[in-house]
Amino acid sequence: MSAYVQLLDAVIKDLEDRKAVGERCVVLAPETLNVLSAPLALSRTHAAIQPRPTAIPARPAPVAAPVRTAAAPLAPAPRAGDLQSPPEAKSANPPAPRPRSANLSPADKASALAELRNRALACEQCPHLFTSRKSVVFGVGDLNAQLMFVGEAPGADEDKQGEPFVGAAGQLLTKIITAMSQTRQTVYIANVLKCRPDTQPSERGNRKPRPGEMATCLPYLLEQIQLIQPRVIVALGGTAVEGLFGIAEARITRQRGNWMDFRGTPVMPTFHPSYVLRREAEEADNGRATKRQVWEDMLQVMERLQMPISEKQRGFFLKG
Ligand code: URA
Repeated sequence: MSAYVQLLDAVIKDLEDRKAVGERCVVLAPETLNVLSAPLALSRTHAAIQPRPTAIPARPAPVAAPVRTAAAPLAPAPRAGDLQSPPEAKSANPPAPRPRSANLSPADKASALAELRNRALACEQCPHLFTSRKSVVFGVGDLNAQLMFVGEAPGADEDKQGEPFVGAAGQLLTKIITAMSQTRQTVYIANVLKCRPDTQPSERGNRKPRPGEMATCLPYLLEQIQLIQPRVIVALGGTAVEGLFGIAEARITRQRGNWMDFRGTPVMPTFHPSYVLRREAEEADNGRATKRQVWEDMLQVMERLQMPISEKQRGFFLKG
């Protein structure tokens, strides 16, 4: 095999590996793009390579590490690659997460997650977030959790403490988890974006993560999911749905309570705890009604995971 063909195979393999972990674009220097778009001089010396491929070859890409399958068939969902905006990536050597084996030993799994965490902690792909963040908020919980919660991005409290969902919204999430007879240690909690979105000093509160920021960060979450292999993912809020599925605008009011499928893993979209708190602040009854909706979504999750559900649990937040 010629060196050229070997090189081509290596490039294809690298692209397939990246695709398998959710990357949908590679950052190229302008000079490289010029070379690639120039007439293929090489084809004269490598006559076998014709016609010149213009995209990733149609060789079947390796599927992301197999995940436990759902009990019932689910509708296909849009994939992360459908993202509308390009990632705001730094061009120099973005880390290329590698696909992971589904059948790692507990020790190998722990070390793979630790290695992934170290990579995330050192990430500089979004220079503006690298300079503004206090910490990279990777995720917490059981590495073998059956249930994973995915939020949008760390807020100020999370940025300070380095742990997801520790502020006011986090306290409500912890209550929801407790109501499901779980703890923060038996589930896994992560965000689409691992850094707090930067804000101007004059701005109050949190900024919604941009599609490009989420796309840049998504490979970390994909690897977390591949390693943990939750049986069910709960997407907390429309932004988490957008980031996870790479869709431009989620309609959480319509989508919540309806199962989605993320590469074989069932996803239950529900309202973000912050939204529940906002509804509660507007009016107690609104808060109660929204909590009940979230709780109905969680009952579906518990059913899917075949968790025991008491009568008391079934009746939470019902009027009367
Ligand atoms: N909101 C989120 O989406 N994630 C957090 O970690 C905290 C608040």
